[in-house]
Amino acid sequence: MAMFESFFEMENTPFGRNVPPEYLYQPEHISEAKGRLRYVAKDQLFAVVTGDPGCGKTTLIRDFAQELPKDDYILLYLSDSKLTPRWFYSGLLDQLGLESRFYRGDAKRRLQEEVEILRGGRNKKVVCVLDEAHLLEKETLEEFRFLLNYRFDSMSPMALILVGQTELWDQKLRLQRYAAIRQRIDVNIVLRHLDRAETNKYIESHMRYAGGRQDIFTDRALDEVYKDSSGIPRMINRICEKTLMYASQQQKRLVDEHMVRFVSEHEMLKGGDLR
Ligand SMILES: Nc1ncnc2c1ncn2[C@@H]1O[C@H](COP(=O)(O)OP(=O)(O)O)[C@@H](O)[C@H]1O
Ligand SMILES: [Mg+2]
Repeated sequence: MAMFESFFEMENTPFGRNVPPEYLYQPEHISEAKGRLRYVAKDQLFAVVTGDPGCGKTTLIRDFAQELPKDDYILLYLSDSKLTPRWFYSGLLDQLGLESRFYRGDAKRRLQEEVEILRGGRNKKVVCVLDEAHLLEKETLEEFRFLLNYRFDSMSPMALILVGQTELWDQKLRLQRYAAIRQRIDVNIVLRHLDRAETNKYIESHMRYAGGRQDIFTDRALDEVYKDSSGIPRMINRICEKTLMYASQQQKRLVDEHMVRFVSEHEMLKGGDLR
């Protein structure tokens, strides 16, 4: 653990990546999104989840996935920007624990067969998630149509969830050439930024996880964190963590708005947009 944790008498790193699920911040719009994903899984629908980078899309999917009953569902999760159609199918087969084949047609058929076995024989529902979908090449996204077609030919053999940054809409799905995919979307989830009150609660839940004193950030420091992060969780994490480090170096037990601003400006100069 870094130095600031012991300075602030914390038991855990407050703004790291490994916050356990029960400490995740879950405002109403997030639990509602999770509820809609459960419904997508249950009814084997097609969903698109978009939002700005760092807004919590992958976290939402992970949380949703770990709550899915293992006896009833099989989750296939792919997150690879360089996914060519061939690797797309072999990636899915891999996750099913099957040897992947070299030829596209073959892998496609294998996947279809396997999904049928899971559904028919083992009574399991398949949920297929493609994260970072805004990076998918046209060819792979087109290939995705196959899964959709297949879905509509027979009766919904799997739930499909495309997850990506806002440009998945602006630069891909909105375009005419993706109309066939767009028209089949059953559920559209857009993750927004947190507002001021939510940013406060978000920080609170991370500080609770860390343990130690809970009133380290002053109200005006929290205002400043909100302003500098525009309510994006990943940026809130970065700013809060760096500010706690800075405060501990300065031997300050209280974080005020000047420290937050100093650190934010410094980070901005150093690392571009903090993302
Ligand atoms: N609901 C949440 N509760 C706690 N931390 C969160 C939450 N949502 C996001 N985070 C944190 O913010 C960071 C960015 O989230 P992530 O899901 O990777 O964003 P995205 O996939 O949209 O780029 C992660 O490090 C994660 O720990
Ligand atoms: Mg992500």
